[in-house]
Amino acid sequence: MIEFTINGRAVSVDVEPDTPLLWVIRDEVALTGTKYGCGIGLCGACTVHVGGRATRSCITPVSDVAGAEITTIEGLDPKGEHPVQQAWRHLRVPQCGYCQSGQIMQAAAFLKDIPNPTDDDIDAVMTGNLCRCMTYNRIRAAVREAAATLRGEATNG
Ligand code: FES
Ligand code: FES
Repeated sequence: MIEFTINGRAVSVDVEPDTPLLWVIRDEVALTGTKYGCGIGLCGACTVHVGGRATRSCITPVSDVAGAEITTIEGLDPKGEHPVQQAWRHLRVPQCGYCQSGQIMQAAAFLKDIPNPTDDDIDAVMTGNLCRCMTYNRIRAAVREAAATLRGEATNG
């Protein structure tokens, strides 16, 4: 058994230790907001937080997260009202939506480290999260808006 916490809930799973965390989240814990894109750490669709850090769950063996605190898109905010989620809605970022939970989780972790990012900062971090619908301009604007909200500054929302 491998035990960890996910979205504040203690879970224990009986799987092979090298099972990717992504499949444990989706198939064992039945949280399907975290998506499979490439499976090799190159697209960011599977991004979750492990101990608050953005982590590619497709290339993370579940044994690596034993005892860790994991947050998925379902647990980022109990009501879906994290400032990043608010900005995403306000600026209507998603198109097909497939990449977006990973984008939001990446942005939410990044803004804890860099609360006042430049566009170059945003691009440097978000470049690892691919969007085949090309929503990049709206993602950049939404990250800026969320950053302002998190800093306590009024936005035009
Ligand atoms: S599915 Fe994990 S990085 Fe692409
Ligand atoms: S919104 Fe379609 S892949 Fe990003």
